[in-house]
Amino acid sequence: MNTDPSIAIVTGAASGIGFATALRLAAAGHSIVAVDVDADRLEHTRSAVEAAGGSVSLHAFDIRDATAFESLLAEVGTPRILANIAGVGVAAPAAETSTADWDRVIGVNLTATFTSCRAVLPGMVEAGGGIIVNVGSIAGVVGVRNRAAYCASKGGVIALTKSIAADYVGQGIRVNAICPGTVASEWIDKILADAPDPVAARKAMEERQLDGRMGTPDEVAAGIAFLVSDDGRFVNGSAFMMDGGMTAV
Ligand SMILES: NC(=O)c1ccc[n+]([C@@H]2O[C@H](COP(=O)([O-])OP(=O)(O)OC[C@H]3O[C@@H](n4cnc5c(N)ncnc54)[C@H](O)[C@@H]3O)[C@@H](O)[C@H]2O)c1
Repeated sequence: MNTDPSIAIVTGAASGIGFATALRLAAAGHSIVAVDVDADRLEHTRSAVEAAGGSVSLHAFDIRDATAFESLLAEVGTPRILANIAGVGVAAPAAETSTADWDRVIGVNLTATFTSCRAVLPGMVEAGGGIIVNVGSIAGVVGVRNRAAYCASKGGVIALTKSIAADYVGQGIRVNAICPGTVASEWIDKILADAPDPVAARKAMEERQLDGRMGTPDEVAAGIAFLVSDDGRFVNGSAFMMDGGMTAV
């Protein structure tokens, strides 16, 4: 398997935190391999990265398709960096979560994180190292009401991350989970749009933040850029909280 030390695979790169991460890592000199199920919006990622002088290739597929991910690796080589950012949610307590919603949320957030990590690890071992960041959530650390499947998926991402870090630390591989609090991405826009009073819902969401505001996708991307940089070399197996203090109280 060929390897390219400059490659960073970013999943969920068409929107929100993934989009901001693609821009940040391109600015740091990485060739971005942008993966998302939304082919149209990926074009927006291409425009933004190229306008900033970066390099990007687009790969539109469902991240649950492990075979498609393996084909991607065969095409682009083993990356130095893998940022597993694609994610979905469903708003429901456990008793009202359908099996289909459970399978979708666990499939995208947890199982695809596992299959993508599993696919890159042998090449990273062969290359003598690599860096993985998996996007968890505060919902993987504390219980968030009405988010049973989502909390379970993100708790799994954090546990998986720690397990991989323990197994591969001797081979130069670092794996961390970044755990954002509420971030004003398109994800939150969609949740607010469905609320009976979106303006009041936004205000309530901001007020429940410890410092009275939501985070931005770029603030989380900055955390990811740190974790994958050499400055982050002593951070391994962590659940790296970026939540404006949301889980401090
Ligand atoms: N926004 C928040 O408040 C928040 C908080 C904590 C964690 N997160 C996590 O951050 C990550 C990014 O969220 P965001 O806020 O940027 O959301 P977003 O909706 O703006 O972006 C998510 C991206 O993932 C892509 N995606 C979804 N399912 C996919 C699939 N099966 N295959 C490939 N791509 C797929 C979407 O098309 C979209 O481009 C998610 O894992 C989410 O759980 C978000």
